[in-house]
Amino acid sequence: MLTGKNIILGICGGIAAYKTPHLVRLLTKSGANVKVLATASALKFVSELSLSTVSRGPVLGDMFAADRSAESDQTLHITLGEWADALVIAPATANTIARLSAGMCDDMLSVCFIALRPDKPVLLVPAMDGHMYESPSVRRNLSVLATQGCRILEPESGELASGQCGLGRMPEPELIVETLDEMLEPLPDSRLKGRQVLITAGPTREKIDDVRFLSNYSSGKMGFAIAAAAARRGAVVRIVTGPVSLATPSGVERIDVESAVEMMEASSRFFDECDIFIGAAAVADYRPETPVEGKLKKNEPTMEIRLVRNPDIIAAFSAGKRPAQLAIGFALETAGGIGYAKEKLENKGLDLVAFNVYDRSTSGFEVDTNVLTLLDRDGTVSELPLLSKEEAAGRLLDAVEQLLQ
Ligand code: CTP
Repeated sequence: MLTGKNIILGICGGIAAYKTPHLVRLLTKSGANVKVLATASALKFVSELSLSTVSRGPVLGDMFAADRSAESDQTLHITLGEWADALVIAPATANTIARLSAGMCDDMLSVCFIALRPDKPVLLVPAMDGHMYESPSVRRNLSVLATQGCRILEPESGELASGQCGLGRMPEPELIVETLDEMLEPLPDSRLKGRQVLITAGPTREKIDDVRFLSNYSSGKMGFAIAAAAARRGAVVRIVTGPVSLATPSGVERIDVESAVEMMEASSRFFDECDIFIGAAAVADYRPETPVEGKLKKNEPTMEIRLVRNPDIIAAFSAGKRPAQLAIGFALETAGGIGYAKEKLENKGLDLVAFNVYDRSTSGFEVDTNVLTLLDRDGTVSELPLLSKEEAAGRLLDAVEQLLQ
C-alpha cells in the first residue's frame, strides 16, 4: 500500500527515538519514500548518521542550513508540504505536541506541519511518561490536534524509561506502519461527497445584561468532530457555532454567533442550499425577555428575570425542508429518556436523532468521548459503544449515508 508514497517522518527528542531507524527501514521496505525531519533534541537520542543511512538522504531539521543553495531548497518547507502524502511524528513529545497545537513555526518540523496540504493525513505517535501523557495540558493539546484532523496513535502500557511501569510507551514501528497504511487507503466513495452539510455547534449565550448571560456547558467538540469528519468525506461543510475554544477543522467554513436568535439568523441563510442539517448545538430554549442595558445592580434581596422561548432552529428547518433534505438532531438527557429522543424525532420532523445521556465523565458536554444511540425515522435503533467524539462522528455520518441511499 505504501508503494511510491512520500512520507515525512518527524522525530522528536524522546527515548523512543532509538526505535526510529527501524521505523524508517519498515517504511522504505514497504515501498515508501521517506524524508526524515529530526528536532535538535531528537538527535541527542538517535544518530543522524543512522537515520540518513536508512532513509538514503540527509536528515532535515535545521531551517537555515548553509548547504542548501539550490533555489528550491530555500523554500524547502513549502516543497516538502507539497511533496508529502502523509506526515508521521514518532515519537511526538509533549513539547512538540504543545507547539503544533499552538500553531508555532520555529523549527523545520513545525513549519512543515503548517505547510502540509490540508487534505494530507497526519499521524501523531505520542510517547512519554504516563503522568505527562495524562496531564491536562497534553490532553488539551492532543484534543486540539485531533479536532484539526490529526490521528493520534495512543501509547501503550509497559516498562518506561524511568523504570516505572505505565502508559506512555511508543507502539512498535510495525503498528505505526500498519496505521499509516490504513490512513492512506483511499476513502471508499462517500455519499457525502459534494453534498452541502450545515452544522450547528456549541452553546448559545443569552444576554441578561451587558456583562452577564445564561448558557450551558456545551464545548462544541461533537459538532466540530462531525464537521471535520464530513469535510474529510468530501462534503462542503459550514459550521455555525456558539462561543467555543476550538480550532476550525480544515476545509470547513465557520460562522461565529452568540445567541440562539443569531444562530437561527445565520443558519437560516443556508437552509435552502444545504442537503443535510445537523443540529449539534445546545441551543438555549429561553432568553431573557429584555436584556438590561449596562450592568444590573443588586438592589433587591431577590430578583426575577422573565424568559421567553427561543426559536427552534432544527424544527424551523424541518418544517420547510424538501423531502430530499435531511434533518439530524441530538437529544441529550440527564437520565434514561430514550422515549424523549423518540418524541423529538417525531415532534421536530427529524430523519435521525442521536440520543446521549449526560453523565459528566464519558458522555455529553465537555468530555472527549460519547455514547450515542441512533434512532432513525424508519425505527432503526443502533446503540454505539463508548467512542471518542471523532469515532462517534464517523458512525453518525455512516448512518446519515444510509439515509441518503
Ligand atoms: N435545537 C435547535 N434549536 C433550539 C433548540 C434545540 O435547533 N432552539 C436542536 C438541538 O441542536 C438538538 C435538538 O434540537 O439537535 C435538541 O432538542 P431540544 O428539544 O432542544 O432538546 P432539549 O432542550 O434537551 O429538550 P427538552 O428541554 O424538551 O428536554
